[in-house]
Amino acid sequence: PLSARLIVVSNRLPLALKREDGKWRFEAGSGGLVTAMGPVLKNRGGIWIGWPGNREPIELPLLRQILGPVSEESGYRLLPVILDEGEVENYYEGFANAAIWPLFHDLQTECLFHPRHWEAYGKVNGRFARVAARHSDREDLIWVHDYHLMHLALKLKERAVERRTAFFLHIPFPPPDIFLKLPWRYEVMEGLTAYDFVAFQTMRDRQNFQACLRAFWPSSRVRGRGPVVTVGRDEGDIVVGALPISIDFAHFEALARSPKAVQTCEELRKAHRGRKIFLGVDRLDYTKGILQRLEAYGRLLEGQETLRESVVFIQILVPSREGVEAYSRLRDEIERAVSRINGRYATTGWTPLSFFFRSLPSDELAGFYRAADVAVVTPLRDGMNLVAKEYCACNTDGDGVLVLSEFAGAAGQLAKGALLVNPHDVEGLARTLVAACDMAREEREKRMIRLRRAVRRQDIFWWVDNFLRAAAGRALRDFPPD
Ligand code: UDP
Ligand code: G6P
Repeated sequence: PLSARLIVVSNRLPLALKREDGKWRFEAGSGGLVTAMGPVLKNRGGIWIGWPGNREPIELPLLRQILGPVSEESGYRLLPVILDEGEVENYYEGFANAAIWPLFHDLQTECLFHPRHWEAYGKVNGRFARVAARHSDREDLIWVHDYHLMHLALKLKERAVERRTAFFLHIPFPPPDIFLKLPWRYEVMEGLTAYDFVAFQTMRDRQNFQACLRAFWPSSRVRGRGPVVTVGRDEGDIVVGALPISIDFAHFEALARSPKAVQTCEELRKAHRGRKIFLGVDRLDYTKGILQRLEAYGRLLEGQETLRESVVFIQILVPSREGVEAYSRLRDEIERAVSRINGRYATTGWTPLSFFFRSLPSDELAGFYRAADVAVVTPLRDGMNLVAKEYCACNTDGDGVLVLSEFAGAAGQLAKGALLVNPHDVEGLARTLVAACDMAREEREKRMIRLRRAVRRQDIFWWVDNFLRAAAGRALRDFPPD
């Protein structure tokens, strides 16, 4: 039933626990999954099972003591799963983030395949499954999120625990010619088919998954049409869906009007008076196309002398997965690219690139969104990209421009209002940045109305309602025909 209690399971709880000077403290977790699912649980209640993000060992009673008040305040229960140092290295940094993450984002050159990582993945999935089984009963829905836990339902089945299960993949699903490179490709597919319902961000992802199903089970046939279909196999049917995740539009819109956002916006506009503000907001990740974006901005400054000093690029980068080598390497490269641009073009009164290497609280971030004339969201590949949607929700003045990669899941819903770009085409991106600067107010407003309407109509509550409908075998609501 639609009203089933939700047992949400994801690798990460919506907070990151850290130890500083011997004291434990926590901050908000980063990334789209946490942003999207936070309001869902707040609204519906239930349980959220996940790792609190700590790398140093912590006693369980102390952890419970820390999480208790957070649970109370959030309106849902947070249940921790502890990982030891080896598991963080092999399951989280290894299999999840050095094999699946790059492979599923079509970046095979970054992939590291190691049997030790795979072994840890199975073991940790088993632990999450045990916790989920212990804290649920047959009426509940165990709703698993993302690529860290693709084997959870299979682990429940192996233990003969009968539960209703659903899975949502926040990242892209690759086509067979890429997926089949994974040494444990059959095992991963077997894990995913153990769920009652498996959903993806876009039709492309769902179709890629179906193509991989056919590679292993050639007799599988699709029944039905629209965003949710059934794939029939001799080994059992699977219901698969394409449901683009979103944000709490009203919450972000209100954040943009909060005193902190208004103050931040005013300060930014004052500091950059008379200049167009470009804004980039990303976790520091090689999928985000940050180097290509900086290169395009460099070309713009090189080719458009008249624009120099009348633009500024603000880039916010949130540190991420620093234990993975590819991420620390990228940080160095970005720092070099930033200083190259600033070193070359800065004048006494103007720094072309301003760079923040930290996470900002959401009300302050809303102020940055509000102040930006142009948001530059150019991932090489992205499951959805919530930054693009947040920018629209926070653009309460209604005249901002969104430059968006055609390889972000969000492009499907935002194509009509955004300027779509191919992030690999650096020249083309530079030209689009110039076009965004030159766009007449009327055109900007017309586009922003469309963008805001799209995000408002298909917000996170629309998404959760439809996900739960699909998981319960009901018809979708307010779903545009595909
Ligand atoms: N974010 C944040 N603080 C910051 C910058 C970003 O909380 O200083 C959040 C942002 O609001 C967004 C999330 O990080 O909700 C990034 O999600 P997105 O889907 O764009 O990409 P992901 O990080 O999941 O790959
Ligand atoms: C993406 C993933 C999430 C992940 C987030 C932050 O949004 O889809 O599953 O939580 O990035 O990454 P982290 O490794 O810090 O959890």
